[in-house]
Amino acid sequence: MAEFLNGMKRTHYCGELRAADIGKTVTLCGWVQRQRDLGQLIFIDLRDRTGLVQLAFDDATGRDVFDKAFSARAEYVLAAAGTVRERSSKNPDLPTGDIELEVRELRVLAKSETPPFAIEEQSPVQKETRLRYRYLDLRRPDMQRTLVARHRLVKVAHDYFDENGFLEIETPDLIKSTPEGARDYLVPSRVFPGKFFALPQSPQLYKQLLMISGFDRYMQIARCFRDEDLRADRQPEFTQIDFEMSFVEQDDVMAIGEGFIRDAYKKMLDIDIPLPLPRMTWREAMDRFGSDKPDLRFGMELADLTGDLRSTGFRVFKGAIEGGGSVRGINAKGLAEKLSRKELDKLGEWVKTYGAKGLAWTRLAGTETSSYEKFLSPEESAAVRRTLGAEPGDVLFLVASGENSTVYASLGALRCQLARRFGLIDKSKPGILWVTDFPMFEYSREEGRWMAMHHPFTMPNPEDIGKIKTDPGSVRSIAYDMVINGYEAGGGSIRIHDTELQQQMLEALGFSPEQARERFGFLLNALKYGAPPHGGMAWGLERLVMVLMDIEDMRDVIAFPKVASSADLMSEAPGNVDGDQLTELGIGLLPEPNQN
Ligand code: AMO
Repeated sequence: MAEFLNGMKRTHYCGELRAADIGKTVTLCGWVQRQRDLGQLIFIDLRDRTGLVQLAFDDATGRDVFDKAFSARAEYVLAAAGTVRERSSKNPDLPTGDIELEVRELRVLAKSETPPFAIEEQSPVQKETRLRYRYLDLRRPDMQRTLVARHRLVKVAHDYFDENGFLEIETPDLIKSTPEGARDYLVPSRVFPGKFFALPQSPQLYKQLLMISGFDRYMQIARCFRDEDLRADRQPEFTQIDFEMSFVEQDDVMAIGEGFIRDAYKKMLDIDIPLPLPRMTWREAMDRFGSDKPDLRFGMELADLTGDLRSTGFRVFKGAIEGGGSVRGINAKGLAEKLSRKELDKLGEWVKTYGAKGLAWTRLAGTETSSYEKFLSPEESAAVRRTLGAEPGDVLFLVASGENSTVYASLGALRCQLARRFGLIDKSKPGILWVTDFPMFEYSREEGRWMAMHHPFTMPNPEDIGKIKTDPGSVRSIAYDMVINGYEAGGGSIRIHDTELQQQMLEALGFSPEQARERFGFLLNALKYGAPPHGGMAWGLERLVMVLMDIEDMRDVIAFPKVASSADLMSEAPGNVDGDQLTELGIGLLPEPNQN
């Protein structure tokens, strides 16, 4: 049976003790990292969230305590009291390596089965096993460090926004379904059978209502829920550092946003971020980097080759240009020897996942080879080489498509892939910038209509308002993203504070007046009662922790994350519910769709 604390009170954390504590009587609590039995001598490394310390048991230890130490196994929970003494053989790798605890009293508070993996830094174990036993995985020092960092960042946010006059106000989690792009998670109502709440995709509408209510500066560490396909940087439930402010223009919101990022880097990493942050328009970001979240820590910028190839006879390039698209390229400098013919073919297959029909290349190794130059005139080939700054040792990659978005997406992704693979990223300084002037609308082929690129409450650029009906594709919005190291870390906009303009916008997005009233009536009404000009933004807390800690998998910055299917492997959620529960909600289930 496990023992009880029985009055033993922890006086110190394991990882805190140093040579200055020698001679002190202390009580420690923690988990057994390792027990070493040397016959007359037993050592136990005891672990808590601050680190490890050595417990020593020898001739002078009472029999009862010695026996307990003898039977202790990995992950047993112990309370140990004794005196801190100098270690005879010091361990310079451990912060507590100069000392050990000469144990007088020991309680085995809990035994443990042998854990499915060793609880240690970078334990070589499958992700799935880690997630199934998440409570054990979270005992590992790297996971603990990350969650401590996450806590610190939230504290930095609370302090910063408080110092700047922002109030934290909670907004509801059970709201009306107002899809903002992703699918909603729905919650059935028991009181109104057949009706549903939705979980918020963000506090967007409520924070705008708070501005109309006169709170002037709002912030929230807000939980958000989006039923979308997961990727390494996306989870179905995540947290935003969200803020909104009144009587402001874009520069005011950006100044507050930059101030927070400067504080975060200073307080978390002691890095000074010079302000103001650089800004780049969406148009420039796409043209130079093929992405609205450009990673500025390496070069390999895109070049437009359409001019060089305007009168080419090569069917693939000609077709793309005549179809209203473009031919663009990047120069992978000095990679000719590192990229074999086979690898070029593999990359060609890979870009197809971004919609490209293929990848044209020229490899300027000893003997030059090219997949397309034979179809071009010597002048055209030379012009392409000149525009891309080609030199011996380079590989040139070209993508042609009738859709510019395909050219950008393929080359933008290829650029990042090559940089990651060949270590071209200069990690010594963070690449932070604002991307501004996003298009207001993007056309969705799936939906057959224009969609809001940020959200429907974003203010269009006043210069472009006249084009909302006639040429929606060219309307710019007052929306901005904060991009860090190639991630969209945060984004926001100035909002529409005028009922008529809001209605016009919803109409442009394909909502009939009735649909608009049904979905957003409360906002449209509120806008009639004196809405101040307002704007704000939100960062993904997880994304910020990822960039600050240089972690690539979002699951590693969340205590209890979901896997790609949105399931929780540990609790096995989602799960079945009782028939009675469904009946109470007025819900009947359809037969499972036939899998064949
Ligand atoms: P947006 O949809 O751009 O804007 O989201 C803001 C930030 O939230 C993070 N984020 C996510 N993080 C993890 N998993 C996800 N599935 C996920 N989706 C988004 C990103 C993103 O930049 N209401 C607006 C903000 C505003 O206009 O003020 C909004 O939610 O880091």
